[in-house]
Amino acid sequence: MNRDRIPVCEPLLGGNELKYVVDAVETGWISSSGRYVTEFENVFADYCGAEHAVATCNGTVALHLMLVAAGIGPGDEVILPSFTMASSAFAICYTGAKPVFVDADPETWNIDTGLIEEKIGPTTRAIMPVHIFGNPCDVDEIRKIAEKHQLLILDDAAEAHGAEYRGVRTGMLADITAFSFFANKNITTGEGGMVVTSDSVYYSKLRYYRNVCFPLDAPRVYRHDDIGFNYRMSNLHAAIGLAQVERADFYRDLRIRNNKYYRDRLTSIPGVSFQKTRDGSCNVCWMNAIVIDKNAFGRTRDEVIAYLIAAGIETRLLFTGMHKQPSLAKHGCDCGGSYPVTDWLTANGFYLPSASSLNEEEINYICDKIVECRSM
Ligand SMILES: Cc1ncc(COP(=O)(O)O)c(C=O)c1O
Repeated sequence: MNRDRIPVCEPLLGGNELKYVVDAVETGWISSSGRYVTEFENVFADYCGAEHAVATCNGTVALHLMLVAAGIGPGDEVILPSFTMASSAFAICYTGAKPVFVDADPETWNIDTGLIEEKIGPTTRAIMPVHIFGNPCDVDEIRKIAEKHQLLILDDAAEAHGAEYRGVRTGMLADITAFSFFANKNITTGEGGMVVTSDSVYYSKLRYYRNVCFPLDAPRVYRHDDIGFNYRMSNLHAAIGLAQVERADFYRDLRIRNNKYYRDRLTSIPGVSFQKTRDGSCNVCWMNAIVIDKNAFGRTRDEVIAYLIAAGIETRLLFTGMHKQPSLAKHGCDCGGSYPVTDWLTANGFYLPSASSLNEEEINYICDKIVECRSM
């Protein structure tokens, strides 16, 4: 190993990123008006197999923009998993709607589709599935429920660029889909997001609300019929994004390969479990998360983390459930009820280093330390 600390994640900027950023700077196009924004949107839409993509300045606002374009607002409820990043729930709160939580499935760690219907009420408008750690949800089951109750499907694919369900990529698995390009994502712009849809009405609304509700495709007059947002992505960020998406499958395959290295070494170790991928799905393995069963493993999750830190290996805890967030309780969300799978993941799980740039030697070192910790 040629480094003394392995970070939990870091970006891999191995293609045309610098060339395109230099071009943006040299030509003076550094705002959202430059050509890289449109090119990035077009290439990313193609990558998803979708008609349209709208770039934003991060994934949280991409979620908000998606909800606004879908007409979600005060008095509405949106169902989402309790095991997710707070941004998913916060974006619903921004619209004035209420997030309603559903526990995770113990195997896939995605929303437990068997628990969705009991949370549907007269004001439920949409389901927001989250493809956790890049693992596609049970899309057919979610579609069945959505059709039966006439709900929209608004995907949070922040962690799942290029993930596939029965050969169809994220971006095409819902009415509208939001992505994040934060620095730790499989495809990154540092900070950034994208909203993808094949519906031209949603597409117009996404562009309209992203740009402070300036009239679309019309001469610039400072008259605004609605309250909009400045959620635009800069040409500098889009320059990085275009270079990233040019090599999207390469970056994706590195993540999948590294996940396989981890699983090959750790699956047989008693007390270590991984997220399960459904047959017919392509999990893009954004993060390599494991759960430690202290009885079978002989050490607690926190002891393993401390052992790894001492060996120069960074880790990160998994999400705390939405039902445990003081902010959401204060906002009036129903945080009662039990979410045992989410609580189990929060208490016993953590991420191992997951950057695309990790190599087999480093992963072997990490796995050696986990095995060593067990036999101490
Ligand atoms: C599931 C999920 N949704 C939304 C987001 C928010 O994206 P961003 O950090 O780009 O705002 C993240 C970020 O990691 C995420 O994991």
